[in-house]
Amino acid sequence: MIQAITPQNAFVFKAVRLRALRDTPHAFSSTYARESQFTDSEWLACAERMNGESGAGFLAMEGENACGIVGSFLDPNHPDQAHLVSMWTAPGHRRQGVGRLLVQEVLNWAHWRKTRRLLLMVTSNNESAIRFYERLEFTKTGRTQPYPNDPAVIEYEMSRRIP
Ligand SMILES: CC(C)(COP(=O)(O)OP(=O)(O)OC[C@H]1O[C@@H](n2cnc3c(N)ncnc32)[C@H](O)[C@@H]1OP(=O)(O)O)[C@@H](O)C(=O)NCCC(=O)NCCS
Repeated sequence: MIQAITPQNAFVFKAVRLRALRDTPHAFSSTYARESQFTDSEWLACAERMNGESGAGFLAMEGENACGIVGSFLDPNHPDQAHLVSMWTAPGHRRQGVGRLLVQEVLNWAHWRKTRRLLLMVTSNNESAIRFYERLEFTKTGRTQPYPNDPAVIEYEMSRRIP
């Protein structure tokens, strides 16, 4: 079951986000060390941003807990583009379609927000995520940027059209 992130489930969001940062530290531009210091009011503010005009977040729920998460925000400089961030499925739930469902929620939201293109950044050493995004019709754009947490790694930009 997919649930939108809202202030009501902010602490379920916090738990799954911190679990994702601990599980796959090389996949995200933020870190567990940074976000584990957030106060409750900062988590509530994050949840509000993920449920506003320019941002959305979704949780894949298993009972009371989340086993997957994704976020998206509109590009402030290009109103026809949205960015996909924070994609993570719990190890015990991978390869069962959870990630695909979460990306579909973002595509629906981005379509509703009248954007045409969904972009993301993925680290060059994250082959499994690159394969996953390719299955979901993302392709590399050719743009790269340095990965802030490891100078040996770069980030590839990938994008897909929003139906
Ligand atoms: C990448 C990730 C989100 C995929 O989530 P998932 O829930 O396992 O993905 P799904 O089961 O929905 O897979 C969707 C499609 O991608 C394919 N896929 C998923 N993982 C794959 C992998 N490691 N290698 C090849 N294909 C893969 C699936 O086979 C499926 O294709 P199909 O429907 O045609 O069979 C998950 O592995 C993960 O959380 N990784 C760690 C965090 C991470 O790297 N996040 C990305 C940050 S940019």
